[in-house]
Amino acid sequence: MPNVLLTGAGGYIGFALTKKFYAEGWRVFATCLPQDRTPELETAASNSEGDIQIFEMDVTDPDNIAAVANSLRDQSIGVLLNVAGLTVHGDIKFGETDYAMWDKHFAINTVGPMRVCEAFAAHVLKSDRKIMMTISSRIGANPKYGFVGYRATKSAVSQVMFQVHLALREQGVIACACHPGWVSTPNNGNKGALTPDQIAAMLFDLVDGLQPEDGGKFFDPDGTTLQIVTQQFDQKPYGMT
Ligand SMILES: NC(=O)c1ccc[n+]([C@@H]2O[C@H](COP(=O)([O-])OP(=O)(O)OC[C@H]3O[C@@H](n4cnc5c(N)ncnc54)[C@H](OP(=O)(O)O)[C@@H]3O)[C@@H](O)[C@H]2O)c1
Repeated sequence: MPNVLLTGAGGYIGFALTKKFYAEGWRVFATCLPQDRTPELETAASNSEGDIQIFEMDVTDPDNIAAVANSLRDQSIGVLLNVAGLTVHGDIKFGETDYAMWDKHFAINTVGPMRVCEAFAAHVLKSDRKIMMTISSRIGANPKYGFVGYRATKSAVSQVMFQVHLALREQGVIACACHPGWVSTPNNGNKGALTPDQIAAMLFDLVDGLQPEDGGKFFDPDGTTLQIVTQQFDQKPYGMT
């Protein structure tokens, strides 16, 4: 049975991906913040006969990450999926930037995935699939003003994954980033185009179909690619404007 490790497994997309990978026959190491051990996640784990295992892991805490990596040291991880992220709940005008919040966004959205890739690289290298995927956002590539801090963290994490690709490709690792679509969650007033379960199915197919030549790419959920820095204006039905 192949193993997948997810961060942010208690979130909307993270939990949908946890259910999807489990349903497809994967063992899921579902990592999340302590407060995100939702009843739904706990129930899914307790009904899984050990195939969904929950680990408390804060992607900004190196000691915490190292402890989880150590507890899984004998496991291979075929897919490492960075889902954890801090989203935005409102824009900030130029001149009123909240720099403390921006630091927090960078620690979670950009530095966190790099920490997790480094901490679990040995586990991924032991696997057959050797995939590292981070959920970024096309907001980080769209040439528009607004949501500057969040946008910058997502732009940067796409570049981080490109760098991970360059660092590990010769060892067979496929490292890439993806936009998850505009997913309907309470974070965006449930205005998204697709549900978390719909998008989890698309992202599962995307990840499952990755080939070595896909390393370093930035994907839309349908498997088409975006540029990491883009001037693309084409708005797909699941894309954010
Ligand atoms: N929904 C969309 O339309 C959309 C579009 C583009 C990109 N994304 C990205 O997709 C990912 C999942 O988003 P979502 O919509 O499912 O939002 P979500 O429900 O808020 O999921 C994010 C999860 O990450 C967790 N998290 C925050 N800080 C963390 C930390 N330091 N360590 C570990 N986990 C942490 C959150 O916990 P708390 O809730 O307790 O903070 C939450 O459970 C995010 O990276 C987001 O930026 C979403």
